[in-house]
Amino acid sequence: MMSLATNQPTDAVDWVLPSLEGRADNSVTYDLTNPATGKVFARVPDCDAQEAMAFANASVQAFENWKATTAYARSQLLRKWFDRIVAGVDEIATAISLEMGKPISEARGEVMYAAGFAEWYAEEAKRLYGETFSSQHEHKRLYAHRQPVGPVYAVTPWNFPAAMITRKVAPALAAGCTVIVKPAEQSPLTAIVLEKFWHEVGGPKGTFQVITSNRPAEVSNEFFKDARIRKLTFTGSTDVGILLYRQSAQTMKRVSLELGGHAPFIVFADADIERAADDIMACKFRNAGQTCVCTNRIYVHRSISGKLVDALATRVAALRVGDPSKAETQIGPLVDEQGLKKVQEHVEDAVSRGARVVVGGNALGGLYFAPTILCDVAPGMRILEEETFGPVAPILEFDSVDEVVAAANDTPFGLAAYLWTRDLDTAHRVSERLDYGIVGINDGAPSTAQAPFGGVKLSGLGREGGIWGIQEYLDTKFVSVGLNPRS
Ligand code: SIN
Repeated sequence: MMSLATNQPTDAVDWVLPSLEGRADNSVTYDLTNPATGKVFARVPDCDAQEAMAFANASVQAFENWKATTAYARSQLLRKWFDRIVAGVDEIATAISLEMGKPISEARGEVMYAAGFAEWYAEEAKRLYGETFSSQHEHKRLYAHRQPVGPVYAVTPWNFPAAMITRKVAPALAAGCTVIVKPAEQSPLTAIVLEKFWHEVGGPKGTFQVITSNRPAEVSNEFFKDARIRKLTFTGSTDVGILLYRQSAQTMKRVSLELGGHAPFIVFADADIERAADDIMACKFRNAGQTCVCTNRIYVHRSISGKLVDALATRVAALRVGDPSKAETQIGPLVDEQGLKKVQEHVEDAVSRGARVVVGGNALGGLYFAPTILCDVAPGMRILEEETFGPVAPILEFDSVDEVVAAANDTPFGLAAYLWTRDLDTAHRVSERLDYGIVGINDGAPSTAQAPFGGVKLSGLGREGGIWGIQEYLDTKFVSVGLNPRS
């Protein structure tokens, strides 16, 4: 049984709250607890419906000027924001680590990932194109061009407190939209720092605002009712996504939803076992397994399963679990009690139905759970049906391609899937048969700013990132021009 004997979390340094000046009302606040220590380390405004309305008014007002700025001007500001984020990597990484427990080295990596969206959309802002097309009438000219959808409401999660904000805000601003971000209750500080940096580089008032609140339904409701807010973009659970989708319908908002996943990771018999094991580690144990794209089901060909499990066991047992503020830490705490309880329940349920713990399997005290490998996992176990969002790697064996493709697709989710093989034919054919928005072929970490990120089925609607991400913030306007027939 793994224990948390060394590298225990120390009390975090006091967080210096960025200036809250200018917010609608600073009098009501809520506490933030560091998941590594269980101690309150900061307070942020707990905004209500009335304040939400003030944010909406500011966003609508700012939109009038922002949409009229040139793409070049928006591009330059976004580039400055990118530079400021990179220069402020330590400040943001500290906020991330304190508020949601991500190990500091990984948090720095997230900041660079987040900055990449600001950089990409600084460039992409200038590359918005329209089309001209022919008319059946001699004296008509037809064209279509893109215009910003309007003020946007963005609801972002705690697992990537920086990257999930820039992945929405950068394309929205590049397109000429204004944005209000409601960060997860657990992780508002990162959002506040990103907003502060935007203003430091000259981002106009009202273009990017962060509303912090511990009453998400009350605040969100205000934006859903408001027909001036033209788009919802959300990253989070499928259950909440469905609810927000319904609520957005009352004012017919454009909607982008990045929801839950249940990623299969298929290792074929010809795979390079050591490299596949390294990749599974990167995919599964990133952010202690708290990502939508991390694998929740590892299918290994029966002929190599013993070797792969051994390779994984060595790596998992060597993971350094502990204080997220220490540079050497690889696995921090889970975000909260609810998250820990779910992980525990999934492991207990699997074990009670015949799964075998190869490494870990136990809680370590506080919000820590030992990185775990489970073998002999079988259909019917909760871990194969629900997102675990924790450091648990369930392993199943398979014999044939058809069998594993059917098993991989047997889920209501369709975000990311992975496969390892040296055979080109298998790689292409299986990738085409997987019902997922993202497929990693010999790559367990495909996410990057210039690629489309998003899922099918219950994993959501729309795509973020790359040339696709900005289209979510644009409407197409068709213009038909009648010319004077005599000239
Ligand atoms: C997520 O888990 O929602 C995002 C992960 C990623 O961007 O790779």
